[in-house]
Amino acid sequence: MKRILLITLLFSMSFISIRADEGMWLPSLIKDRLPDMQKNGFKLTSKDLYDINNASLKDAIVHFGGGCTGELISSDGLLITNHHCGFGQIQSHSSVKNDYLKDGFWAMSRENELPNKGLTVRFLVRMEDVSSKVFKGINKKTNENDRADIIKKNSSLLIEDAKRGNHYDARVEALYYGNQYFLFVYETYTDIRLVGAPPSSIGKFGGDTDNWMWPRHTGDFSLFRIYAGKDNKPAPYSAENIPYKSKKFFSISTSGVKEGDFTLVYGFPGRTQEYLHSEAVRYVSDVSNPHKINLRTLRLNIQKDEMSSSQEVRIKYASKNASVANAWKKWQGEAKGIKKMNTVNIKKAFEDRFSLWASSKSEYKGLIDSLAVIYKMIEPYSFANDYQAEAINANEIIKFAGTIRGAIIRNSKMSKEISDKNILEIVERYFKDYHLVIDKRSFKALLKEYDRNVPKDFQPLYFNQLIEKFESTDNIVENIFSNSIFASKEKLEKQIGDGIDLKTLANDPAFEFYLKFSDHFNSNIKPQLDNYNSKLSLLYRRYMRGQMEFDKNRDFYPDANSTLRITYGKVRGYSPSDAIYYNYYSTLDGIMEKDNPEIYDYNIPQKLRDVYKLKDFGRWSVNGTVPVCFVASNHTSGGNSGSPVINAQGNLIGINFDRVWEGTMSDIVYDPDVCRNISLDIRYVLFVIDKVAGAGHLISEMNLVD
Ligand code: ARG
Ligand code: GLU
Repeated sequence: MKRILLITLLFSMSFISIRADEGMWLPSLIKDRLPDMQKNGFKLTSKDLYDINNASLKDAIVHFGGGCTGELISSDGLLITNHHCGFGQIQSHSSVKNDYLKDGFWAMSRENELPNKGLTVRFLVRMEDVSSKVFKGINKKTNENDRADIIKKNSSLLIEDAKRGNHYDARVEALYYGNQYFLFVYETYTDIRLVGAPPSSIGKFGGDTDNWMWPRHTGDFSLFRIYAGKDNKPAPYSAENIPYKSKKFFSISTSGVKEGDFTLVYGFPGRTQEYLHSEAVRYVSDVSNPHKINLRTLRLNIQKDEMSSSQEVRIKYASKNASVANAWKKWQGEAKGIKKMNTVNIKKAFEDRFSLWASSKSEYKGLIDSLAVIYKMIEPYSFANDYQAEAINANEIIKFAGTIRGAIIRNSKMSKEISDKNILEIVERYFKDYHLVIDKRSFKALLKEYDRNVPKDFQPLYFNQLIEKFESTDNIVENIFSNSIFASKEKLEKQIGDGIDLKTLANDPAFEFYLKFSDHFNSNIKPQLDNYNSKLSLLYRRYMRGQMEFDKNRDFYPDANSTLRITYGKVRGYSPSDAIYYNYYSTLDGIMEKDNPEIYDYNIPQKLRDVYKLKDFGRWSVNGTVPVCFVASNHTSGGNSGSPVINAQGNLIGINFDRVWEGTMSDIVYDPDVCRNISLDIRYVLFVIDKVAGAGHLISEMNLVD
C-alpha cells in the first residue's frame, strides 16, 4: 500500500515539475535561462534580447492597444500585429459602402494611412527588480495593513523617481503573489495609423469555427504605423506628425521553419495562474466555465441569427461577436483540458505532500486547509460575480445607462455646452454599433438564466419586486425597452438638449435597473469578494513561497500579468488523441480545400483563387504551395497575440496568434505534449501583401534575410 502511494506520489510529482517548454520569463533576468536556450539552439546573447544601454530586440516590441503585442518591421515605424488585434480599428473605419472588414484595406501611400482615436502603443523602456526598495521599512513585526501602506508609499516614490524629467509612465508590479516587485518604465505613442489589413476572409479565415483550433489557415495580421512628433517623441495625432524612426526593428527571415527548430516568442501575456489551489481549479472547470459558456451560447445564437440576415448588422456586431465567441470557446477547451489532465486530483496529491512537509514548519503549517476554507466561503460570491458580469452587465442597454451616469457625474463641473458635446459623442459611438433587437433578445435570455441560477439571497430585492410587478423576466425586459430613453437615440438626444441629470433619469427603467443591480453588487457582493480575496492573497503570498521552498526541482516563473515576457520552445506537431498526429504546418492548399463562397468566413477573395489557379506564387512558393501557419511549443497566453516569433538568429519567422484547442488549459496547467501556440508563417504575410494586395511598396520597407 505504502509503495503504491509512493509511486503515485512520484508520478504526480513528475507531472507538476516543469519541462522544457513551459515558462514565461522576465527579459531582464533572461541571462539565467541562456544556457538552456543555447542548448535548444538559440544563437544570440541575452543582451540582444534585453539591454538598457543599447538598442535590443525589446525596443522593437510594443504592447498594442493594451491587450495585444505588436512589433516593428521597418525603420519607419511600420508595425505588424494580428488582424484580430486591429479588428476594432478596421471595423470602425468600415461601412456598408467601404467595407474594409470584407474587402480589406491597403494604404497605397502614407497620406492614406488612417488615424485611430484612442489607440496607443507602449514600449518598455526598462524594468528593474525593486523588491528591496519596495519592502524597505517592513520587518517581521509589521502588520498587514502597515505593510500594504509601506508598499504603496515606496512604490509611488519609485514611480515618481522613474518619471522625473521625462515623458515616461511607470508602474510597480507584484510578482509571485507579492513576494517580489518590479518597476516597469514605459513610453507610450498615441498617433497610430492603420496601414493595411487583408479581407476578413484571409485575416479571420475560418472565423469562430476554426478559432482556437489546429489545423489552421488564418492570415491573422494587420499593419499599422507609429507616428511621432518632429523630435521622434510621442505626440497626439497631428497631420504634421512623421513616421516614428525605429530604434530597433525585426529583420524578416524568408527561410521558414522546420520541425525541431528553436522558436522564441517575445510579448505581453495577460494573465496566467499556474500555482492555484485545487479548489480554485475545480471552480473554474466545474462551475464557472460551464455557467459562463451557457450564458454566452445564448447570446451567440441570437447574434448569429441577426447577423446572418443583414450586412449592416454583421458589420455592427463583427467585433463584439468575435470577442464574445473567443472567450466562450476558450473556456470550453480549458475546462476540457483541466479534466483530461486530471489537474484537480493531481493538485490535491501535491497539496497532501506539501501539507505533510509543512506540518513541521510554522510558516506553512495549515496553509492548504486555510485556502480550502476561504475558497468554500468565497464560492457563492464568485458565482454571483460571474452572473453580474455575464448576465447583467452583458446587456448593452444596462451597461450604457451606467456609462452615461458616469459621464454625468464626471462632467458635473463642466458647462452644459461642453458636457452635452461630450455625452452626445458617447451616444453617437454607442448607437453606431448597436442593434436593438439583438440586445433585447439577449437580455430576455440572460435574465431568465439569472433568475433560474442565482440563489434568491444573492439577488437584489428589487429584482423580486420587478418579478412581482411584471410577472415574468420577459416582461421586465419589454418594459425597459418600451419605456427607457436609452433604447432610443432620438429620445436620448432630445433629453440631453432639454437637460440631463441624475434626477431626470431616476425613474428611467434601464437606469433604475442599472443602479439597483450595481448597488446590490457593491454593497452585498463586492465587499465579501474583496474581503475573501484579500485573505486569499495573504495566503497565496505564503503558499507561493512555500511551493518554491518545497518543490526544489521546479523551475518557477512568475504568472503572467501583462508585462513583457520571453517564452521559448520548438516547432513541433502533436498528437491530440489516440491514432491522430497533427503536422506542424499548414499551407495554401488547405485554404483552397476549405474555400466556400457560400460561407462568409470561408469565402476567400477571388484574387486569391486566381493566384492559386495560375500558381503565381512568385518567390513565396515552397514545394509548389505557400506555407500559412505553424505550431510550436511556446508557452503563450491571451495578450501574446501579435507577438513576434523569432528563430535562433533573432529574425522574425512568424506572428503568434492563437493556441490549439487541446492546450488552452495552459493558463492554469501546461502540458508539453499538447500545448502549442499557433503562428502565422511570415512568408504567408509577405505573399498576401505582394500577390493579393499588390502592396509591394510595404515589402520594400522591410529587411528580408535568409
Ligand atoms: N483565439 C485567438 C485569441 O485569443 C483569436 C481570437 C480572434 N478570432 C476570433 N475568431 N474571434 O485572441
Ligand atoms: N489570440 C490570443 C490573444 O489575443 C492569443 C491566443 C492565446 O490566448 O494564447 O492574445
